[in-house]
Amino acid sequence: MKLNRFTNQVAMITGAASGIGQACAVRFAQEGANIACLDFDAARNKETAALCRSHGVEALAIKVDVTQPEDLHRAVETTLAAWGRIDVLVASAGIYSGGPLAEVPLSQWQRLIDINLTGVFLSNQAVAPHLIKQRSGSIINISSMAGKTSWPASAEYSASKSGVIGLTRSVAMELAPYGATCNAVCPGNTLTDMVRNVAGIVGPQDGVSAEEWLQARANDCPMKRMAEPWEIAGVVAFLASEDSRYLTGQAIEVDGGMIMS
Ligand SMILES: NC(=O)c1ccc[n+]([C@@H]2O[C@H](COP(=O)([O-])OP(=O)(O)OC[C@H]3O[C@@H](n4cnc5c(N)ncnc54)[C@H](O)[C@@H]3O)[C@@H](O)[C@H]2O)c1
Repeated sequence: MKLNRFTNQVAMITGAASGIGQACAVRFAQEGANIACLDFDAARNKETAALCRSHGVEALAIKVDVTQPEDLHRAVETTLAAWGRIDVLVASAGIYSGGPLAEVPLSQWQRLIDINLTGVFLSNQAVAPHLIKQRSGSIINISSMAGKTSWPASAEYSASKSGVIGLTRSVAMELAPYGATCNAVCPGNTLTDMVRNVAGIVGPQDGVSAEEWLQARANDCPMKRMAEPWEIAGVVAFLASEDSRYLTGQAIEVDGGMIMS
């Protein structure tokens, strides 16, 4: 189905070089938006921007570390200089780490919280004033099913993703009087580099191959498969569309029924 919901709009995506962020960038490009691709992996980010341009829109690749407020402010200024507006922010940049509670070094906790939680805070902080000025727009923060439920040896990841849900609600309250929305999406296991890397580490620790570990995680879910990144991007695009103007402050599970089961 070809929709054109974002013609003449501008979408800014963090974590655009890979996985869910890349799928979101391509989805908004397919639907006519110009795209600001933000990531600290400059080479892969350029590839995403080229992929977006192949759909007939303009795209910029901007090297950003989401833990650095000055990087984000520079990216916002560059985007406004190019197109004069920002309609959508998707905050997808993130990492995974974990381990038994007693063994997690403080530096590991802090690095993940810096990227997955403070990075989302800083991205929202950089973009929200422009949505308020425009009196329109959408922020979609990528949380996780780990923000709503938990499992062992995942303290910093779960804490960061629950934090994103709380942050999302507060930003939604601030934006609501201006007609702008802020929601979180909570994906289940989605086939990206992040999950493949985790499988490569945790599988052998559990005495199985990476492929067997991935299959076991797929079987955990009522749908008996993982999500493809474009299936998350479709819900993100809905949350940026006119069809969801009255929907704000929500954390939507896109997890094949995993949490409800
Ligand atoms: N894949 C899953 O199963 C899954 C499930 C739930 C939630 N998520 C969340 O979705 C988001 C995207 O994950 P993904 O699976 O696409 O992973 P991914 O590894 O494919 O992509 C993450 C991207 O974020 C970028 N990034 C990391 N740290 C950054 C930083 N400091 N500054 C700028 N960019 C940075 C990476 O370079 C990479 O391009 C993450 O927030 C992740 O926690 C993923």
